[in-house]
Amino acid sequence: MNLKETIRSIPDWPIEGVVFRDLTTLMQNPKSFAYACDLLYDRYKDKGIDKIVGIDARGFVFGGVVAYKLGIGFVPVRKKGKLPGSTIQETYALEYGTDTLEIHEDAISPGEKVVIVDDLIATGGTVGAAVKLVKNLGADLLECAFVVELPDLKGRDQIDGCPVFAMVEFE
Ligand code: PRP
Ligand code: ADE
Repeated sequence: MNLKETIRSIPDWPIEGVVFRDLTTLMQNPKSFAYACDLLYDRYKDKGIDKIVGIDARGFVFGGVVAYKLGIGFVPVRKKGKLPGSTIQETYALEYGTDTLEIHEDAISPGEKVVIVDDLIATGGTVGAAVKLVKNLGADLLECAFVVELPDLKGRDQIDGCPVFAMVEFE
């Protein structure tokens, strides 16, 4: 399965100079979508994971499927103002702007083993904030998993000490 060829690249979106790697085309393709989700399921099925943490918004798509397949709970990390209960927050820098992420403060119990899932790691600002959130709740973070990594942007440096798994790389 060549996952990479099912991902669409859109130049100068959302701002000039950014080549946006659009995973909606991968999700629309049933074979590539199933392949990506199955890869994560096979990777984590014997690891004793308690919860999958998915990042707003496309991390919900992949993370939700993987949590269902593993038979475990799914925890959303959301952009600010979307979660109704008591939350903790982290502000982070993006390739194009800044934003704040939140997690419900009762979503993870201390010591629970979690994996963070998102569609893509670029500068690592987003997942860096998610890592801080789950660690602040006392989670035992096994790994951060992505379909796509943009290695030139050195996102891994934002989550020093946490293993990163990515299926596909783009320059
Ligand atoms: C994209 C992507 C990641 C993030 C990665 O989401 O889905 O969550 O950017 O970038 P980073 O590694 O530089 O932080 P985006 O911020 O575009 O938000 P969206 O999911 O709401 O479209
Ligand atoms: N998030 C940050 N940079 C991105 C890119 N180049 N493509 C898709 N999502 C992104």
